[in-house]
Amino acid sequence: MSFMTSSTQSLNMSAQVGNKSQVYLDHNATTPIAQQVIEAIPKLVLAWGNPSSIHQDSRAPKRILRETRNKLGEFLGCHPTELIFTSGASESSNTVFHSAWCTRPKDKNKILISAVEHPSVTKAADWYASQGAVVEKINVNRDGSLDLVDFTSKLDAQTFLVSCMFANNEIGSLFPLKQIVAQSHQFGALVHTDAVQAFGKVPVSLQDIAVDYASFSAHKFYALKGTGVLYIKKGSPLVSLIHGGAQERNRRGGTENVLGIAALGIVLENCGDILVRQKHLEALRDSFESLLCEKLEGVYINAKNTLRLPNTSSLLIQGVDGETLLMTLDLAGYSVSTGAACSSGSPEPSPVLLAIGLSKDEAQSSLRVSFGWENTQSEVSAFVEALVQIVHRLRALKANEVLYAANS
Ligand SMILES: Cc1ncc(COP(=O)(O)O)c(C=O)c1O
Repeated sequence: MSFMTSSTQSLNMSAQVGNKSQVYLDHNATTPIAQQVIEAIPKLVLAWGNPSSIHQDSRAPKRILRETRNKLGEFLGCHPTELIFTSGASESSNTVFHSAWCTRPKDKNKILISAVEHPSVTKAADWYASQGAVVEKINVNRDGSLDLVDFTSKLDAQTFLVSCMFANNEIGSLFPLKQIVAQSHQFGALVHTDAVQAFGKVPVSLQDIAVDYASFSAHKFYALKGTGVLYIKKGSPLVSLIHGGAQERNRRGGTENVLGIAALGIVLENCGDILVRQKHLEALRDSFESLLCEKLEGVYINAKNTLRLPNTSSLLIQGVDGETLLMTLDLAGYSVSTGAACSSGSPEPSPVLLAIGLSKDEAQSSLRVSFGWENTQSEVSAFVEALVQIVHRLRALKANEVLYAANS
């Protein structure tokens, strides 16, 4: 499968590596790997030297680290020395919580997080709560936006850390970080954002939003798993989570994942203008949502009227069970999700959907479709046809079951 948004923007994707006939529509869980990465891997593994060594074998891996860091700095609007490589966004976010907790002023013990954070943030917050921190959650409105009145009422002089995601992974809403940063800094609180879902979907300028920390993950950006990035604004406190060698300027022990970092560099080199990518994703999502609502009754789109990611459609489809729908779509050749990937297999409804006010039943009738750079309009049209047919079939089965139960 190849993908082109314009003659100057080509980044071939490898969605066919898994199952050739499957259409992948779950990019918020992970992305396929760019073809350029796959092609470069045999050459990249030859840069096997230790980047911290002095001899000649360290030159190639050193160059990979330097060049990727420089490209990232340019891409994210920050200085390259403000970035460290980690094993993933979970490690990046945990490092922030550790740093903020260890360096907090004695009179501060409160952490504020949004009510819809990823478990890499909520579980970190739970841990510091077990160590004595007071953790409060900022409510999210029914339309998916952040409740700024609630935020303002909970932010106070005791707050040492505010962690609010850039964009939500399930409903796609984008949060007003500039305002959160401005208000938090007035109280001397540090601000972290989990920017995993924004990376590659909308432009991110760290200088502009002025957060103190940001977490990123390479596997949501058409590169490899096991590679993350942590942005630490110059002057913000950093206490290593992983003690070891002097890598990453003494900020993160452990030999860097050179292959994963090189792969990230290759995507950065080839991804072109993110605004063009954003428009492509928006066009697919808008066409999907309008076609679906035209052809199917009882569909509600979460966060539709809120600023949101260009690629994410969170749907509530009345009269069907989300898990059953997901499995039936899978058999029909479409990979989608009912929520966060880490919660699949769990019978519990998504905490994010509950946090925006959906009932348990509504949350269990939900489906997440997340488009990627390589998806096409013809895939969207075929997917809508399949989805409509399957929903009709599942609704008919359910109606028969109800009738049968009433008559027996
Ligand atoms: C919003 C968000 N934050 C953090 C993560 C964790 O990223 P990683 O797998 O790189 O640790 C994910 C991945 O699912 C995510 O969607």
